[in-house]
Amino acid sequence: MLAALGSAIGLGNVWRFAYVVGENGGGAFILAYLVCVVLLGLPLMIGELAAGRAAGPDPIGTFRRIAPAAPWRWAGIPGVAAAVVILAYYPVVAGWVGTYLARYALDGTALPAGADPAAAFGAMIADPVQALAATAAVLAVSAAVVAAGVQRGIETASRILMPLLLVLLLGLAAHALTLPGAGRALDFLFRPDWAALARPATWLAAAGQAFFSLGLAMGILVAYGGYLGPARGIPSKAAMIAAGDTGVALTAGLVIFPAVFSFGFDPAQGATLVFVVLPEVFAALPGGRLIATVFFLLLLIAAITSVISMIEVPVAASGARPGRARAAVALAVAVLACLAAVPAALGFGRLAGLRPAGMAVLDSLDLMASNLLLPLSGIALALCLGWRWRRAEAAESSGLAGPIGLAWLWSLRLVVPLALAVLLVAGFRHG
Ligand code: TRP
Repeated sequence: MLAALGSAIGLGNVWRFAYVVGENGGGAFILAYLVCVVLLGLPLMIGELAAGRAAGPDPIGTFRRIAPAAPWRWAGIPGVAAAVVILAYYPVVAGWVGTYLARYALDGTALPAGADPAAAFGAMIADPVQALAATAAVLAVSAAVVAAGVQRGIETASRILMPLLLVLLLGLAAHALTLPGAGRALDFLFRPDWAALARPATWLAAAGQAFFSLGLAMGILVAYGGYLGPARGIPSKAAMIAAGDTGVALTAGLVIFPAVFSFGFDPAQGATLVFVVLPEVFAALPGGRLIATVFFLLLLIAAITSVISMIEVPVAASGARPGRARAAVALAVAVLACLAAVPAALGFGRLAGLRPAGMAVLDSLDLMASNLLLPLSGIALALCLGWRWRRAEAAESSGLAGPIGLAWLWSLRLVVPLALAVLLVAGFRHG
């Protein structure tokens, strides 16, 4: 469970959560997000974990075993596709975090004092050498951990470091709430704008963010389910993962939005939001340099544990034994991911002219993974598990029987696929 929490907690909770909350009207999005976590995320998370436990950790083969007939046998493929797309830009953002960490540690500040933060950050991510080097470094460290087979050590470290990240965020939130813009931030975050709540695009973004942040519908949880022993309560574990992940995200929101309103930033500026806002928070804080260094270190570790969980999936699926074979597969995955990440890494500088769907490469990949591939994968997984999996085995593996088991079954059969299908169609049609 700790490994799953390590995979779930990452940039999704801080970087992505803040920017999609800001883009989707604040409180309305948060309400939709909580509903999506409980009604769509939890049933699917239980399903993925239970499927992995019953039919093995291979994120594609598991579904072939559960439902051997076409087209169900391919239910695992969209999720792996989503993971591949995410791996093609997530390390780039992790590289930005690493660059901030290095700058705070070495120079004392991330962005030059007195400069316009948005422009300074834009210049930073436009530098091709730096972007590529930071991305490669993130992937190299992640692959080294997988190759060395020290994930257990990482899990132990996460057991201390992830709670530490939460404690630090809580402390920062307590400080942020004393800023002059705190009142407006609380309004923005917790007073839903009903018009935004009526927009399907808000709900599609909420479902996509929930899946992204929970690490859902991309094979990771199937793999972790495969490593679970027989006597573990999957539903309570899933609830704890969901609660922990959501708690970190909400706390991060309480750090970032008071600062957004206090320092006069645009909450809807997109993927740059936290990188532009956080330096202002730390600059105004006594001991800010040290706090910032620790914060970006913990955030980088959180991001790397997420990348590790992704590299681990193909390594596990390859069946390589610990040792040289394992190291070779981990290295190969990292090199491929690094090549795949080149367009996203250069998309703010050398390749700035490349604007798929009118946005930077990184933003378009992010949108494609979260708002298209993850919902599609969620539909495939829910239908496959709900309709094709032998009910006795599903109940036995999930530990859900009786009326709750029935509610879970019909969530997978109807609620999750129908809701996601409606959101996909309506979300795209009405933008
Ligand atoms: N759950 C992770 C987070 O919140 C993000 C994530 C999802 C991820 N899928 C991934 C990271 C695949 C790397 C690869 O940060």
